[in-house]
Amino acid sequence: MDEEDVTVVANPLAQDCLTDLRSVETDDAAFRGRLNDLGRVCGVALADRLPAETVDVTTPLAETTGTRVRSEDVALVSVLRAATPFVAGLVESLPRARQGVLSASRDESRRLEDGSFPVEVEYVKLPDVDGDTVVVADPMLATGSTMVAALEAVDEAGDPDEVLALSAVSAPAGIERVREAFPEVEVATVAVDDRLDENGYIVPGLGDAGDRAFGTEGE
Ligand code: URA
Repeated sequence: MDEEDVTVVANPLAQDCLTDLRSVETDDAAFRGRLNDLGRVCGVALADRLPAETVDVTTPLAETTGTRVRSEDVALVSVLRAATPFVAGLVESLPRARQGVLSASRDESRRLEDGSFPVEVEYVKLPDVDGDTVVVADPMLATGSTMVAALEAVDEAGDPDEVLALSAVSAPAGIERVREAFPEVEVATVAVDDRLDENGYIVPGLGDAGDRAFGTEGE
């Protein structure tokens, strides 16, 4: 994997959130909170690249002008379920963004020859994405199977201006998989970790993001 294959969100606050997310000391409620915080910081980083316009504004004292970031041209797609707190944070920073959801679950009982898992996309509800910046958010980019399935759904939904695959933690294999399947998609992540283990979990990673966020570890 080359460095230019991925955009790393190097913001120190993003890295600080990630440290808490990685820690086994972080309980479910704190995990959700920090995933939300991370989404907020990623939203701020994303705003740097969005078009902005000058608008008129009336203060209690005078007429003046202000800046508006065109977050209405952003479509945020949550990959259920782990992305829910992450996208809630993104929306706090980009309040006019439109949202879509899709559910994709990987069948961890069947690993394919290329190391990935079959993924079933069960539910897709996306806004009109024509001309938008679409951000497909999934905290963990592991084998890339789920992200590729999500990007296929976005591809069928319309003609966006640009598409970002945004994760908190990614594995080199997942980045490569997405780059191969969708070379035009920008892969953005807070950290690129070392590897996948034999169960397709990212190492060092942070464990199962969905289970940690929703308190279903061991169920
Ligand atoms: N999904 C997760 O939640 N964690 C991983 O490490 C890989 C996939």
